[in-house]
Amino acid sequence: MRDMVDYEALDAEARRILELNDRGGYTVPTDGLYPYQWNWDSAFAAYGFAQYDVNRAWEEMETLFSGQWDSGMVPHILFHQVDERYFPGPDVWQGIGPIPSSGISQPPVAATFARRIFELAPEESRARLTPLWPRMRAWHRWFLDWRTDDAGAICVTHPWEAGRDNTPEWDGPLKRIEPFGVGEYTRRDTSHVDPAMRPTKFDYDRYIWLVNQGVSVNWDDAELKQINPFRVADPTMTFLLLRAHRDLMALGTALGQDVSGMEAEIAALEAGAASLWNERLGCYDARDVVTGEWAGCVSSASFLCWGAGIDQPGMIEHLRRVNGAVRYGVPSHDPESPRFEPKRYWRGPSWAIMNYLIATGLDAMGKPEGEAIRVNTREAIAGRGFAEYFDPHTGDPAGGGTFTWTAAVWLGWASPNVKG
Ligand code: SER
Repeated sequence: MRDMVDYEALDAEARRILELNDRGGYTVPTDGLYPYQWNWDSAFAAYGFAQYDVNRAWEEMETLFSGQWDSGMVPHILFHQVDERYFPGPDVWQGIGPIPSSGISQPPVAATFARRIFELAPEESRARLTPLWPRMRAWHRWFLDWRTDDAGAICVTHPWEAGRDNTPEWDGPLKRIEPFGVGEYTRRDTSHVDPAMRPTKFDYDRYIWLVNQGVSVNWDDAELKQINPFRVADPTMTFLLLRAHRDLMALGTALGQDVSGMEAEIAALEAGAASLWNERLGCYDARDVVTGEWAGCVSSASFLCWGAGIDQPGMIEHLRRVNGAVRYGVPSHDPESPRFEPKRYWRGPSWAIMNYLIATGLDAMGKPEGEAIRVNTREAIAGRGFAEYFDPHTGDPAGGGTFTWTAAVWLGWASPNVKG
């Protein structure tokens, strides 16, 4: 394959996509479908820029943290300029931060990428990272204060908070919600992308109802915790925060910051992660905190354990099984499950960003399986372009095109021209 593919042209195309989606200080995930700054997309974008422009990488991070709320929360969307092509916009969310924003957060990967960028260019990075470090610390603390369950796992309060909107893990908790008062609204996503690749109306009604719940208490964390019926202990958040907290502590030590208390927080997160082990399934799983029920899902988030520094017997077998059932792993949901849908967003497709997080975790644990994931990701992108996600059987591109985080992952990891 190497001989037939022009990898230099793909590297150039990936850079062109970052520039195409650059709105000056921040990057949109893709034009039209997602015309604002998204939290974890932006951290990936910074990682992509860092491969050739460290200054621009830090700018992306700085703009993201300029939207941080007084509570420490960093919103999942920052609405820098109103754009009618996306729903729900700032008028629906009514965020209470320094700039118009949503009212929920997203997987905290910023510190992980800050560490990568710092290691790539320590001299240039030190002065940029120093003011950001306490902000990252405050954000992580907000998760520990407001999003933990009794066992110490990190919970999501909205399907969008995990970034994995319509994964089958939320099916049970969402079914318990009766979306009274949502009324008529016009979705915009389905005018950009085939509805068969997007969440259903059943899901969207509940997404909007949950936003309205937050607005009804003016996004007060304590009140929301009382009234919100959606609270799910989530492997995405728990593993990624654990990983990011280790990275933040390493950065804090390098910068001479006060890291006291962080080791205890890491130990609490480790206990939280252990509580996500579903014995019957033999896999890390999401747990409905309200009912105590397991989701019963082997999802790509289950495989974030290695990145968090956790090696649990049985997980490699699951990874081999799900990847063995498809051509382009890692599928976002178990292909042997009746709920698997190969083209519908988080119910089956492979995502380059998840592949990156899973494979780099495997590498860090000294496991060889990461390399095949990297090669599969490279082949999917080289064959069909920088799509939002891919059908894991055929490699067909799905969702939005010219996608920022797919381009970023290419530049930093999937391209064969990346050194080490
Ligand atoms: N992913 C959501 C959407 O599709 C928002 O975070 O709109």
